[in-house]
Amino acid sequence: MKRPAPKHRPSPRSGEPRTATRTAEVTVTEVGARGDGIASFDDAKLFVPLTVPGDRVRVAVKEAANAKGDGLRADLLEILEPGPGRAAPPCSHFGTCGGCTLQHMEDAAYAAWKVGLVQGALARVGLGDTPLEPLSRTPPAARRRARFAALKRGRRVWLGFNERMSHRLTDLAECPVLRPGLFALVEPLRGLLLSVLPDGGGCDVIATELEGGIDLVLVGPRSLDRAARERLVAFGEAERVARISWQADERGTSEPIAHRRPLAVSFAGLPVTPPPGAFLQASAEGEAALVAAVLATIGEPKRVADLFAGLGTFAVPLAQRAAVHAVEGDAPALAALNKAAGSLRLTTERRDLFESPLTAKELARFDAVVFDPPRAGAAAQAQALAGSKVPRVVAVSCNPATFTRDARTLVDGGYALSRVYPVDQFLWSAHVEVVGVFSRP
Ligand SMILES: C[S@@+](CC[C@H](N)C(=O)[O-])C[C@H]1O[C@@H](n2cnc3c(N)ncnc32)[C@H](O)[C@@H]1O
Repeated sequence: MKRPAPKHRPSPRSGEPRTATRTAEVTVTEVGARGDGIASFDDAKLFVPLTVPGDRVRVAVKEAANAKGDGLRADLLEILEPGPGRAAPPCSHFGTCGGCTLQHMEDAAYAAWKVGLVQGALARVGLGDTPLEPLSRTPPAARRRARFAALKRGRRVWLGFNERMSHRLTDLAECPVLRPGLFALVEPLRGLLLSVLPDGGGCDVIATELEGGIDLVLVGPRSLDRAARERLVAFGEAERVARISWQADERGTSEPIAHRRPLAVSFAGLPVTPPPGAFLQASAEGEAALVAAVLATIGEPKRVADLFAGLGTFAVPLAQRAAVHAVEGDAPALAALNKAAGSLRLTTERRDLFESPLTAKELARFDAVVFDPPRAGAAAQAQALAGSKVPRVVAVSCNPATFTRDARTLVDGGYALSRVYPVDQFLWSAHVEVVGVFSRP
């Protein structure tokens, strides 16, 4: 795994310019969709990371902000006068670590900004009048799943998240976002990887805190010799890690190296054992908010289709009140759901919903549909739903841009979007999740 060298000293908090062409003094007026402050400069938008509205700042103006040439990017050099919405970041890595974008924003302004992301995305497709529920919040120290990057150089292992706009690593000394049990593994993992990785080698570590313990997947060491496998097994014993798997590369399948204890995640009280690396909502709190919104709005259907069902986050609670057909592309996730389902009224189907969405004819047997696609959204499935007669559709999404694109398709097909629930599952990031409720009048 190719990874540029990490810094051997802490990165500067304000991001010294590497390719500065000129400096300027500007006032930030808003925060954009990626979490950067926006000021006006030379009749163009100037994106300044780590700023809030009202900040008067000195910046180094750099390159075009994106390939389309919409605006310019700048590095923050100095805050001349802070805006009213500034707050002290809770983490010492903030500013360099790419894991968080908005710790420097006062909480009420931060929450309003997240809601504004959803409002803005809706307005861009002509759905700006849609009523919004209050933002569901996720507290600090709640993230139960993280993907760390690691790099070994000599006798040292860097382990953490990539720096902002960079492939360099922030070597984590703290992380207020992660559950404490997950963060406690960071230092022992450095010790493990020191003995497993070759000099100059790197890997990613997907760590998930489940019922029963921590589930680890090492992604990236091309090969593991016998000694390395034995070290992984010993690490599992010493650190009470419930399962360790290894995956040679991103697309490979994961091979279990040690499985010491049963692992599960419970949906509506039903324990499901996730296969290594399977998708899981990033926090129990975020998951609870999404499930509550789905259950509150699905109505009283007899037959529900749960599309992009994963391990059954929605399918299982829905199956306690209706017959559910869960459709998902990932075979191991579906197998885990099937194994757990027992007496639930649940059927499953493995299917690529991008290539082969449920047709209007197939959809006719359902009186409600839930769909929760990856960030790319569900363009083809939304098109098929738009041509269907399903009375209620509840869409869950981690990407307001693709959600609103698909919402527009449904509305153009005759659905009314009655309300949207914003959920802040990815604390201090520029991400926001939504649940949208569509009905045929
Ligand atoms: C955002 S996750 C949601 C999973 C589940 N609803 C949950 O909340 O845990 C998206 C799911 O879509 C699945 N997926 C991705 N691409 C797919 C495709 N083309 N066809 C079917 N499923 C797909 C992924 O495996 C993943 O389980």
